[in-house]
Amino acid sequence: MNHQLLDIESINQAPGDFLSEIGHLFAVFDEHSQDSGNISYGVKAGRQRFFVKTAGVPADPRPFLPHQDRVALLRNAIRLRGSCAHAALPQLHNVIESPHGPMLVYDWLEGDLLHADSAARLQPQSALQRFRRLPVAEILNALDTVFALHLELAQAGWIAVDFYDGCLIYDFSRREMRVIDLDMYCEGPFVNRMGRMFGSSRYMAPEEFERGATIDERTNVFTLGRALANLLSDGSVARSTFRGGDRLFDLLRRACHPSRDRRYASIPEFYAAWVEAGKGSSCS
Ligand SMILES: Nc1ncnc2c1ncn2[C@@H]1O[C@H](COP(=O)(O)OP(=O)(O)O)[C@@H](O)[C@H]1O
Ligand SMILES: [Mg+2]
Repeated sequence: MNHQLLDIESINQAPGDFLSEIGHLFAVFDEHSQDSGNISYGVKAGRQRFFVKTAGVPADPRPFLPHQDRVALLRNAIRLRGSCAHAALPQLHNVIESPHGPMLVYDWLEGDLLHADSAARLQPQSALQRFRRLPVAEILNALDTVFALHLELAQAGWIAVDFYDGCLIYDFSRREMRVIDLDMYCEGPFVNRMGRMFGSSRYMAPEEFERGATIDERTNVFTLGRALANLLSDGSVARSTFRGGDRLFDLLRRACHPSRDRRYASIPEFYAAWVEAGKGSSCS
């Protein structure tokens, strides 16, 4: 498609004004739904739908992170997308410079975010609960997409930060898992300088709460293990609620070991164990 959204390099207007001029805004993600300070838009331009992400309004003092830090995270997301072409990531078509910083023009993904606030999450009709009721083989397939993506990212040197179910969009009709919002991922291991880092405690390793601790692939092994516990069980690591077989349960326990030394040493090692266990299928 030949549309200015896809080839224009810069604009002088506020992103929302520009987008509503050149297309139809059908969704806005702002402070009513996000605590990031970012403002993103669902835009229909021509016959195609896009997700356009911006760092929000520079002068707004309310967000936790200042505007320049939010802009830096978006530029980080551009780098990440440039270094990994895995199909689970939405296509990044264009970056438009605006007075509010870069506008990242992604594909609009069909499907449901597997995240809701703590009350809504427990509702039987929430996307997460509907996902948990899917056949085991379908869940394993979706998990493989998440794990294979993280294998590629690890091989490109990226350490996952702030990965949780709010990064997962599942298309229930096509049975496709897609992954969004990896803006906080870091190029290489680093030392935790924050104490409690950004993220959902349901996915975070003990070292993500510990100032001075190293955050590396062993940390990410824990997080992927937590994805397994959250999607193929009720979030616990109890055997009784886990829907996989014994070998997969062993993998889960090892990945989510509180002690770093007892986990898989890297994402490739974790993924190899997953493949050896038939990507879960040989043990369900
Ligand atoms: N490519 C996409 N297609 C459709 N919806 C998306 C897409 N990316 C994100 N979203 C939706 O927009 C919301 C905000 O996007 P996200 O990248 O998580 O921004 P933030 O940095 O504000 O957390 C997500 O929770 C999700 O519901
Ligand atoms: Mg988000």
